[in-house]
Amino acid sequence: MTQHHAAGTRRRSTSLRASFTAAPNGKNGTARTTSLVTGGAGFIGGHLVEHLLAQGHHVIAIDNLSTGNPATVERIDHPEFQFAHGSILDEPLVDELVSQVDQVFHLAAAVGVQLVIAESFESLRTNVRGTEIILESARRHGARSLIASTSEVYGKNAACPLSETTDRILGSPAVRRWSYAQAKALDETMAYLYHTDLNSPTVVARLFNVAGPRQTGRYGMVIPRFVGQALRGEPLTVFGGGQQTRSFCHVLDVVAALAALIDSPAAYGQVFNIGRPQEVSIRYLAERVITLTDSLSTIQDIPYDEAYGPGFEDTERRVPDVTRAREVIGFDPQLTLDDIIMNVVAEQREHMLALEPVSIEAVPATDRVEAEYVG
Ligand SMILES: NC(=O)c1ccc[n+]([C@@H]2O[C@H](COP(=O)([O-])OP(=O)(O)OC[C@H]3O[C@@H](n4cnc5c(N)ncnc54)[C@H](O)[C@@H]3O)[C@@H](O)[C@H]2O)c1
Repeated sequence: MTQHHAAGTRRRSTSLRASFTAAPNGKNGTARTTSLVTGGAGFIGGHLVEHLLAQGHHVIAIDNLSTGNPATVERIDHPEFQFAHGSILDEPLVDELVSQVDQVFHLAAAVGVQLVIAESFESLRTNVRGTEIILESARRHGARSLIASTSEVYGKNAACPLSETTDRILGSPAVRRWSYAQAKALDETMAYLYHTDLNSPTVVARLFNVAGPRQTGRYGMVIPRFVGQALRGEPLTVFGGGQQTRSFCHVLDVVAALAALIDSPAAYGQVFNIGRPQEVSIRYLAERVITLTDSLSTIQDIPYDEAYGPGFEDTERRVPDVTRAREVIGFDPQLTLDDIIMNVVAEQREHMLALEPVSIEAVPATDRVEAEYVG
């Protein structure tokens, strides 16, 4: 780490307890592994950092805090943790960090249709150029890498279940909504080619809906949103009839799978669906939240046109086939939908007074599209 970048990094992260310094263990040192987690202040990234620390790894996280929460990294008071406040588009900084690690978990991304639509070019740069910077740096320094992709790459394909080889069905490239899926699919191709053509070990985790504590309700993500509405006694707003189904996987099962994938040489060069194949309708989800919170809330149906504007396209089903992950890493998610709901309930009850209530009406329609249906 040069003084120039170290100083720059510290200046940008003065509010954070952990500051960036050189990693105590070089990549060719002892058995302890050093990991870089991009997007480490995000929902999944924060849980992954904690999982890796609990496993005895040394962890460096990088995040520009664009959608990440500073509190996520501030709360990690661990001697083996370092945080760099910066962007994955900062090539010299990324290269300095990657040069010190054995493996990179690449989770940083511009996530959300609102962001992708409002800041289309910058989002595309983050999701395409950012991934290329990570992959190239990992290749240069001999680090293995895991790239986080999304079930959104399947687009409108409602085949059930969706296996890793299932075709993609996307709308027009001119529809900005699809640029996130396009970028993530390109990331997958890049990761594959870095592995096959450039001899750099990579693995792709195609994540289905991930949920659990610390998922922000800011964009109305469906579980924190329903739980918040139920706890406040407001109607749970179900869009588009509620018969559309999704499969929710607890974030703790997901981060354990990510760690197992990067530890498995047999996984390199492949894509893995990671999700819990328990299909639930959005209406059932709403009813279950009401039951588990003992809420008097009712369910309010809102047509898609009203919720998202005319012409909204949704996927009716999205259920993962996780056979490959089961065979290679023994993936078998343990936590249920009820566990997810109860964890989110406990968190929201604890922070209820401090939470800013989110009015779904106040959230732009495009934001809500991301919120529930785009991972
Ligand atoms: N949550 C889900 O259900 C889900 C589903 C499918 C895929 N994913 C993927 O998982 C990853 C993590 O998603 P998440 O739900 O934790 O979202 P998140 O928004 O909480 O995390 C993304 C993090 O990346 C950071 N970031 C964005 N641009 C950056 C940049 N240029 N440099 C450094 N950091 C930057 C953000 O500040 C944020 O902390 C993403 O790649 C996302 O595409 C998530």
